[in-house]
Amino acid sequence: MLNLFVYKWIHLAGVFLVFLAFGGLLVEQKFKLAKQRWASISHGVGMFLLLLGGFGMLARLGIHWPWPGWIVLKLGIWIVFGFWLVVTRRNWLPPAVSYTVLFGLALAATYFALWKPF
Ligand code: HEM
Repeated sequence: MLNLFVYKWIHLAGVFLVFLAFGGLLVEQKFKLAKQRWASISHGVGMFLLLLGGFGMLARLGIHWPWPGWIVLKLGIWIVFGFWLVVTRRNWLPPAVSYTVLFGLALAATYFALWKPF
């Protein structure tokens, strides 16, 4: 097992890749550009690293099932981020709405991790 900070670093690397991907996906959607392969790859690799780092930290912090509410909610946000690739690619919402929702969810995930309110 790796140490807590290595998992945290992996987790944050995942956040950066996923958000770089969303930046690309939103520009692609707004300007009707060809599907950017790097954006899908960055999204996929980032989602994997988020999960790997997240579960690695849970093990290191000794947090087991039943999970506290903040972990359940973060997992929910992770699932939404996965699904959001489809939301942008299929043009389901205007890019400005997506942008706002994604930013809000990132703030919420960070709040849950830092304050652990429940
Ligand atoms: C698979 C779902 C997730 C799990 C299991 C998870 C788990 C965790 C854990 C255990 C921590 C460490 C808390 C501590 O050090 O006390 C953490 C920190 C953090 N997570 Fe997540 N997380 C998940 C999803 C996300 C998502 C989707 C984001 C997107 C923004 C995110 C952003 C962060 C941030 C910014 C931190 C703070 C790192 C720090 O302490 O400096 N997490 N997460």
